[in-house]
Amino acid sequence: MQSSVIPSLLLTKDGSHTLFNSQLNECYHSTNGARQESLHVFIEAGLKHFVDNNTPQKSIQIVELGFGTGLNAILSYVFCKNKHIACTYTGIEAYPIDILLAAKLNYTDWMSDEDKAIFSQLHSCQWDEKIELSHIFSLHKCHIRIEDYFNPSESQKYDIVYMDAFDPAKQAELWTEDLFKQIHNNMNEGGIIVTYSSKGDVKRAMRAAGFIIERLPGPVGKRHMIRGRKKTEF
Ligand SMILES: C[S@@+](CC[C@H](N)C(=O)[O-])C[C@H]1O[C@@H](n2cnc3c(N)ncnc32)[C@H](O)[C@@H]1O
Repeated sequence: MQSSVIPSLLLTKDGSHTLFNSQLNECYHSTNGARQESLHVFIEAGLKHFVDNNTPQKSIQIVELGFGTGLNAILSYVFCKNKHIACTYTGIEAYPIDILLAAKLNYTDWMSDEDKAIFSQLHSCQWDEKIELSHIFSLHKCHIRIEDYFNPSESQKYDIVYMDAFDPAKQAELWTEDLFKQIHNNMNEGGIIVTYSSKGDVKRAMRAAGFIIERLPGPVGKRHMIRGRKKTEF
């Protein structure tokens, strides 16, 4: 649908870049601040919340739906590095951005030289291959459509899902009860899904798929966001 479009670089209100897709008339992040949105929704309400409430026995399994600029991935890497947490990060993306465009993103302006090198590798590394970016962080970028990724017979289960597809108004097919059921089936008990959207339809579809839903305060410029949890079986 959007494969022919080359997104353009845009500055958001917190000084960090986002990309703009002219075909969908959509940005990859909030124009109120890409970095602040990613930190609020995915790192604080997602990764940090999970770590604070669980004692992972092994590597945390994260899957991001819509890998895009790699912003959530690099912020997750930095969080895991600082907390000495092992993580396997799977990024699903149907329309990878060009490596030259990725090099223009200013996300590493706030980071060390070591983290700058990791961000560059996030984009230069092979698709559809699991890569060890450090002794605690592995990345598996999958060049596939979100709707084709989840598989009922898949043994891989996730602890955290970053649901970061374009807005449901633009990509309704990625926010259905059926897709949330597939995601739910591929998660560990007690696992969580976080998204910037707080639409009623999204909440209902997630609830119908089996998630326990929480409505949380949103990032700057948004009242709410959603976190879902896969019930723990007793
Ligand atoms: C809202 S942007 C978020 C990107 C990313 N999380 C980031 O921080 O840059 C949505 C992403 O989903 C990708 N996408 C759109 N439709 C898709 C599909 N059907 N399957 C996989 N990825 C898709 C887009 O190319 C884009 O990278």
